[in-house]
Amino acid sequence: MQEKLVLAYSGGLDTSVAIPWLKEKGYDVTAVVLDVGQHGKDLDFIKEKALLVGAEKSILLDTKAEFAQDYVVPVIQGNLQYEGEYPLVSALSRPLIIKKLVEIAHEIGATTIAHGSTGHGNDQVRFEAAIHAFDPELKIEAPIRDFQWSREEEIAYAEAHNVPIPVGEESPYSIDENIWGRAIEAGILENPWHEAPEEAYTLTQSIENAPDEPEFTTLTFEAGVPVAVDGEMMPLPAIINHVNDIAGKHGIGRIDHIENRLVGIKSREIYEAPAAKVMMTAHKDLEDLTLEKDVAHFKPFVEQQLANLVYDAKWVSPLFDALQSFVKQTQQVVNGDVKMKLFKGNAIAVARQSATNSLYDEDLATYTASSSFDQASAVGFIKLWTLGNTVFEQVNHVHSETGMSNG
Ligand code: ARG
Repeated sequence: MQEKLVLAYSGGLDTSVAIPWLKEKGYDVTAVVLDVGQHGKDLDFIKEKALLVGAEKSILLDTKAEFAQDYVVPVIQGNLQYEGEYPLVSALSRPLIIKKLVEIAHEIGATTIAHGSTGHGNDQVRFEAAIHAFDPELKIEAPIRDFQWSREEEIAYAEAHNVPIPVGEESPYSIDENIWGRAIEAGILENPWHEAPEEAYTLTQSIENAPDEPEFTTLTFEAGVPVAVDGEMMPLPAIINHVNDIAGKHGIGRIDHIENRLVGIKSREIYEAPAAKVMMTAHKDLEDLTLEKDVAHFKPFVEQQLANLVYDAKWVSPLFDALQSFVKQTQQVVNGDVKMKLFKGNAIAVARQSATNSLYDEDLATYTASSSFDQASAVGFIKLWTLGNTVFEQVNHVHSETGMSNG
């Protein structure tokens, strides 16, 4: 009997030639297409294409809601941006893809999982780290990494095995997409001294062509998660799509990042993540209003560590779970509304309120005479606050004049 294999199938040339190649190796191939909110892709067609090029079975799963709830939410609540720039678009989908593939492998009794990553990127590590975590017994095939084929060799193999080669329409870039954004690499982008051509972008307008009038939109958060736009409650995937549309129109969310890959290579990456930019700016602003100072000052350390873990293939790890518990705890008070101004590539928080959790007390903060803040109590506070420095200066005279303080 043939061994069963489950392949993460995207419909592109790489994973399509992988199918006859894996069959020649003796596997019975089940292709799995995951809908994580890829923009403008005909996933039913892709599902059929897998059968056309030789898969025994092809499965299409709609995982948009699960992806948004279990993978995007931690990024919003944690303000996660790798190296302060990248909202982890592709890194996020990998553990979910593997979770689903492992479930299917168990259902159909497959021994092996295959993915289409190359040998010089992060995704191979993310896929395989997740496989090892979910089921260390499963075997792994990585045909694209094994081939090391030139484009010509790949096309020759495709022709010999009746794999359709997309003519003309194939993008000069390597693209990965989901509801949270779009990652574009390769081609001319590999020259970091070359501005990314306009054609690389599909979700965002150029700043030049963005409207000359700003647009305002209000996001409502419950426990750090967006639940409504301009007062209308919507499921999270719908909110993300809606904000992607309006923010993209205003040229928001283009990212041009010289990135440190986990495999040690520096790479030039272009991303489009309009909703991510707007939502995370709004979320951070609401945290400024609702988080107590010590929590607000400590959380960024956790955030940076979490962003690195997600990027570096440690989504499934005990440290991730522990830090995630910290973030969840902090989010209980992050409730309220943030009004965002969208204009010419900028997403600016211009107003915020929280009926239940605002720590901002106008009565304490005001400069007017009506303030309830006791100014007299500041005098003694400042003496004690600076006592250590005062004693140090009296002894060492690093900044003070010897004559004055020696007296
Ligand atoms: N460099 C990004 C990451 O590692 C994006 C990779 C996306 N893959 C692609 N084929 N464009 O998360």
